[in-house]
Amino acid sequence: MLRRLHPEQPASFAFTPANQAWAQAQITKYPEERQASAIIPLLWRAQEQEGWLSRPAIEHIASMLGMAYIRALEVATFYFMFQLQPVGSVAHVQICGTLSCMICGAEDLVAVCKEKIAPKAHQLSADGKFSWEEVECLGACANAPMAQIGKDYYEDLTVARLGEMLDEMAAGKVPVPGPQNGRYAAEPISGLTSLKEFVSGVTKYNASAQRAVDLGDTIKRIDGTEVRLTAPWQGKTGAKGASVAKAATPAKASKPAEKPAAPKAAVKKATADAEKGAAVSKAQTTAKAEVAGTIEGVKPKTLTAAENGKADDLKMIKGVGPKLEAMLNKLGFFHFSQVANWSEKEVAWVDQNLEGFKGRVSRDAWVEQAKLLSTGAETEFSKRAKKDGVYE
Ligand code: FES
Repeated sequence: MLRRLHPEQPASFAFTPANQAWAQAQITKYPEERQASAIIPLLWRAQEQEGWLSRPAIEHIASMLGMAYIRALEVATFYFMFQLQPVGSVAHVQICGTLSCMICGAEDLVAVCKEKIAPKAHQLSADGKFSWEEVECLGACANAPMAQIGKDYYEDLTVARLGEMLDEMAAGKVPVPGPQNGRYAAEPISGLTSLKEFVSGVTKYNASAQRAVDLGDTIKRIDGTEVRLTAPWQGKTGAKGASVAKAATPAKASKPAEKPAAPKAAVKKATADAEKGAAVSKAQTTAKAEVAGTIEGVKPKTLTAAENGKADDLKMIKGVGPKLEAMLNKLGFFHFSQVANWSEKEVAWVDQNLEGFKGRVSRDAWVEQAKLLSTGAETEFSKRAKKDGVYE
């Protein structure tokens, strides 16, 4: 199967401050010159944030890791776990079409997807909630036919059961992952013939399904508010973004998210600090500063229309293109003076609500730019944009 970048791409990509902090922490897991090892988790996080992987996202991550774009693109296009086009807002269904599953009815499952979702793989359903594709063996052949939906496996599927599951998901429910025909795991359908004492009554579902039920994130996407710094060496094991942000000093919290430090430099400094026995490395400091930016947002005051029927040209703010300007207007922002007065919490709210452009307000320091523009002064960018007609 050909895996290509989608023909329609967003203008740019930025991690939300919370995800940026998480990504910085991941990079510190790897030794100097080996930051590229963080490529899979970072691509995955970008996909969790946006729903799919765009070219700007892949390139942004390649830059963070000091990799050539083509190397990151090779990874993103190789693995089926990465979606290179928009997927259903509720779930993307991956039907295994390899030998065991094909023998046991994968084609019938694909027919269900064609009927209930869309005639072709990677097309969105009419309501935008679902998409589907056929993938290679997912390693659950003893429970064929099966599908991966979101993060979990649904096994021993039938046409009727898959149809029901899609209806349940459309109605906001999440079916219990694992075998769908009454089997506990991969034992004979007629029941165990040996090792009976090891199975019964341990957990309600088999270990994988039980874990999936306990975690409950099957088809849920990470929105950045539940960031966990899984970097125990930074002293923040399992800390949630919100609680870490609370612990941050107001001075730190008031700073907009910084651009990521060059990975090489960050790791070099971290190594040097470790050698000296220093408590905090540059990478740690960067991660903490980024986490400090993960504050709870407050919606700024909005307008239903531009004052006096004349909106400012928000594209004069560096980082705002025609799409973002339309999005801002839709949210109720028409004037430089509105942007100039956003507080830190309001910036956080807008950052979180720019679908496809999350984190852009902080990244490009819109408030500072808008403060100048609202007085009638020009920024270097606005002068150039007016002269050349080039935005962003
Ligand atoms: S053949 Fe479908 S999981 Fe292996």
